[in-house]
Amino acid sequence: MSTTALTRSLVTSLVEDAVTAPSMHNAQPWRFVHRTGPGTVELHGDPLRGMPREDPDHRALHLGCGAALFGLRVAAVHRGLRPVVRLLPSPGDPWHLADVRFDGPDDADSDLGVLHDALSQRHTSRFPFTEELIPPEVTDGLRAAALLEGCRLVVPGAWHTDTVMDLVHASELFEAADEAVRAEIAAWTRTGAAGEGPDTEGIPSYAFGPRQYDVSSPVRDFGAPRQVPGRASARFERRPQIALLGTVDDTPEEWLKAGQAMHRVLLQATLDGLATSVMSQPLEWPELRSAARDPGSTAGFVHMLFRLGYGPRGRATPRRPVSEVLAFG
Ligand SMILES: Cc1cc2nc3c(=O)[nH]c(=O)nc-3n(C[C@H](O)[C@H](O)[C@H](O)COP(=O)(O)O)c2cc1C
Repeated sequence: MSTTALTRSLVTSLVEDAVTAPSMHNAQPWRFVHRTGPGTVELHGDPLRGMPREDPDHRALHLGCGAALFGLRVAAVHRGLRPVVRLLPSPGDPWHLADVRFDGPDDADSDLGVLHDALSQRHTSRFPFTEELIPPEVTDGLRAAALLEGCRLVVPGAWHTDTVMDLVHASELFEAADEAVRAEIAAWTRTGAAGEGPDTEGIPSYAFGPRQYDVSSPVRDFGAPRQVPGRASARFERRPQIALLGTVDDTPEEWLKAGQAMHRVLLQATLDGLATSVMSQPLEWPELRSAARDPGSTAGFVHMLFRLGYGPRGRATPRRPVSEVLAFG
């Protein structure tokens, strides 16, 4: 298919699928531009949607944009296109994160189409999971999904899981003691109180899940800073099944790769019948992040903590209308 054959409605539908991606606090820090001449879709990061306190280097912002890029690739293949991605194509503009052409070789990303249904089914679940163990062949498939995007997925054993849980607890204490971090979270959560930001972005209270009786699972409590009327408490899984996504280096290019790998793992897990959550809470503090890695692994830098299992998948959260994030140039 020729690249110039992309119609506005086709590009709009690709971007509609892309923006189902997860992003930190649902800030949706992305912008897309369709260049009709060369037939490319550009992805730009939006630093105004960054988190200066929790993500001063914009690593999480890149992860969210990488996830949206992966969604765009899946959507394109689903519609018979052959996406080819160039990361960071403008050396003078660090916010121009990627260009996507649609005239790749016949086999470009050809295996991604099967993930399309999972785009609308995947949500961050902050609900209790059962103790049912994930079969090893499923975790093997998730490791392979990360590898296909040039990243490593580490499924920690018992001692490493305990270490990560200790880091989660430490990060909760750090967060509770840091007024600026709490203010940032409050600015991106929606409880129906007066003065909150637009309801097309941020985390709505129905997605907080119940409060944990004793924090056995790494689920972040977005309702902690304020009272959410009617919010229940529940006992979560005692033995959380987690995984860590890492890369060898810690550069914007690697962050974009990690974002794509994160989304690929989440979509594959969704197809495999798992409920999923992603958590950055213990990775937002440099001193805790460095302790999260397995010293025996080549994945030197951890980017994301996954929680996987069987349980409620959570509900869809709002997205900004495509007209706000897509321009034609
Ligand atoms: C970089 C990044 C960091 C995130 N950190 C957390 C976190 O610490 N805790 C959490 O519960 N969710 C976290 N999320 C999930 C987002 O809150 C979630 O993707 C967003 O609210 C949209 O909801 P959805 O995933 O259900 O579509 C993170 C997502 C990304 C991409």
